[in-house]
Amino acid sequence: MESKLINGRELSQILRTRMKKEIEVLSQASIKPGLVVVLVGDDPASALYVKNKEKACREIGIESETIRLSADTREDELLNLVQRLNKDPRYHGILVQVPLPDQISEQKILEAVNPLKDVDCFHPENVGRLVSGKPYVLPCTPAGIVELIFFAGVSTEGKHVVILGRSNIVGKPLVNLLLQKNERANATVTVVHSRTREISNYTRQADILIAAIGQPRFITDSMVKEDVVVIDVGQNRIPADNERGYKFVGDVDFDSVIRKASKITPVPGGVGPMTITMLLQNTITAAKMAKK
Ligand code: GUN
Repeated sequence: MESKLINGRELSQILRTRMKKEIEVLSQASIKPGLVVVLVGDDPASALYVKNKEKACREIGIESETIRLSADTREDELLNLVQRLNKDPRYHGILVQVPLPDQISEQKILEAVNPLKDVDCFHPENVGRLVSGKPYVLPCTPAGIVELIFFAGVSTEGKHVVILGRSNIVGKPLVNLLLQKNERANATVTVVHSRTREISNYTRQADILIAAIGQPRFITDSMVKEDVVVIDVGQNRIPADNERGYKFVGDVDFDSVIRKASKITPVPGGVGPMTITMLLQNTITAAKMAKK
């Protein structure tokens, strides 16, 4: 069983150790990568992600600050803050945690971030670069998924990758990464979503199945073929009989699907840590760009 697991913590550790050394070298050239995270409101899941981001930055030597704003922050206040951060030379990366409260247009805010500081790859200019095959930085979760597949020794070339979910954060940018012409891509990609009929007809054809729909244990063993490679992006909080009273499960019914899969990512410990690892990488890239 153990060898079937694709371990995102292990790969993250390898990559972060490498980045820590790179940051030491950069400091000799007076480059000190900095990331600012903006968190609006008090959604507990977002608060946890942001805390994990801060900790990861600290561990490898990236300067980081989190600005926490109340849930009733106005759009113009947030726009002003973003404009101030765009000009602040301490920060090479700006991350505005989404989702934002209803009174704030996410699109307006993401478009206000200086594209060179857009370490999420959410700005339309950077999305456009990605789609046209000339990306600036890569979107964090999709890039983490691609790295995990490569690390597992699985080639995507000519494979049928089926993605569940069409979000702007995972599904859509992931399609574009997997369609690139390079050794981590060249896949045939199908996207299914909430309006797809007979989802199983597609998932059963997948050589590589990537689930990002936010439905706990949605994918069961009858929906996949033998030897499928499964990447589980889900982080669903469900009630549990432990002291916290909850636990995280993925979009995949791990215990049944692992019997058929040749490789599978666990939740937690799969995609989650890789998203943050790619964010660290993008912050370093942005810091080097700023120096040029
Ligand atoms: N919310 C959930 N994932 C992400 C992410 O990768 N970046 C930002 N900015 N917000 C998120």
